[in-house]
Amino acid sequence: MSTSPATAVPKRVLMTGASGLVGSALSACLVAKGQQVVPLVRRPPRPGSREIEWDPVQGRIDVDAFQGVDAIVNLAGENIAAGRWTASRKKTILESRLQGTRLLAEAMTRFEPRPRAFISASAVGYYGHRGEEQVSEDSPAGCGFLAEVCRRWEQATTAARDAGVRVVLLRLGIVLSARGGALARMLTPAKLGLGGPFGSGCQWMSWIGLTDLVRCVEHLLANDVLSGPVNAVSPHPVTNAEFAATLGKVLGRPAILRMPAMAVNLLFGEMGRELLLASTRAEPSRLLSTGFCFAHPDLTSALRAELSV
Ligand SMILES: NC(=O)c1ccc[n+]([C@@H]2O[C@H](COP(=O)([O-])OP(=O)(O)OC[C@H]3O[C@@H](n4cnc5c(N)ncnc54)[C@H](OP(=O)(O)O)[C@@H]3O)[C@@H](O)[C@H]2O)c1
Repeated sequence: MSTSPATAVPKRVLMTGASGLVGSALSACLVAKGQQVVPLVRRPPRPGSREIEWDPVQGRIDVDAFQGVDAIVNLAGENIAAGRWTASRKKTILESRLQGTRLLAEAMTRFEPRPRAFISASAVGYYGHRGEEQVSEDSPAGCGFLAEVCRRWEQATTAARDAGVRVVLLRLGIVLSARGGALARMLTPAKLGLGGPFGSGCQWMSWIGLTDLVRCVEHLLANDVLSGPVNAVSPHPVTNAEFAATLGKVLGRPAILRMPAMAVNLLFGEMGRELLLASTRAEPSRLLSTGFCFAHPDLTSALRAELSV
């Protein structure tokens, strides 16, 4: 992998999950820079908008979707933290990612010219629970439901890669934003002084601020030599106890209420074990080796920026 990447900013970007936390911030940023974003939506397009309809469940996608598209960003997927992982929720979580990703990867091979880049979301959940081990993009997949989802989600891009499209597998860490996701859910208890670590608090959390994530996707869109897995995480992961303490400090509130592992288990079951108690200490080796500079590499700075405090 080169350290001085060739750059070519895409003009027209097709995006799934454009209405979500990451997609809406990314769309706003690309549009502000003069790029066109074409959202793929699972409902009738709004009149006068650029939206194009698709139905990942039925395997339907409008052929116009790929017209003049330089790059595709694939962010769609059922929210993994919206409720306990029953068998049917696990099926939806998995299939909402596999169906759409496979459909895009196969459909784009039928059009000429093909998009130059396919940036497809995945997660550092790929590595599973790894304790103190530092994992990079070269580390093997781990065990557990999320690791299995991520492995198969990434595999679903294969048709695009085989057809010569540059495929980037964006292994996201916990995205920090006041607008949604994990941090927004933590804010109310943290502001009430009811924040604190989960379980031992020794588990590692690999995180990235939404602002840096958007910059990271722009970097990946523009740099033609980058392909394969890319950890989208800050270079300074923290333990869960450090996260709780730093958030408390930034908000000026105590963060000493520990939730024992047993309570996490009882309240959240498998979802709690994999999302709150598992330890993943990922490093952004590929981003750093291609010259990406984080605006907010440390947690205090990222929290202050995302929470505007
Ligand atoms: N946020 C994080 O901390 C984090 C961490 C690791 C990985 N990720 C992954 O990164 C991607 C983007 O994250 P995000 O936080 O922006 O997610 P998000 O806010 O939950 O948005 C995901 C988008 O996916 C679409 N979607 C929802 N349910 C779906 C379903 N059943 N089938 C197909 N599409 C569905 C929706 O867009 P439409 O309604 O417009 O189709 C939704 O806005 C997700 O796939 C997520 O798993 C996120």
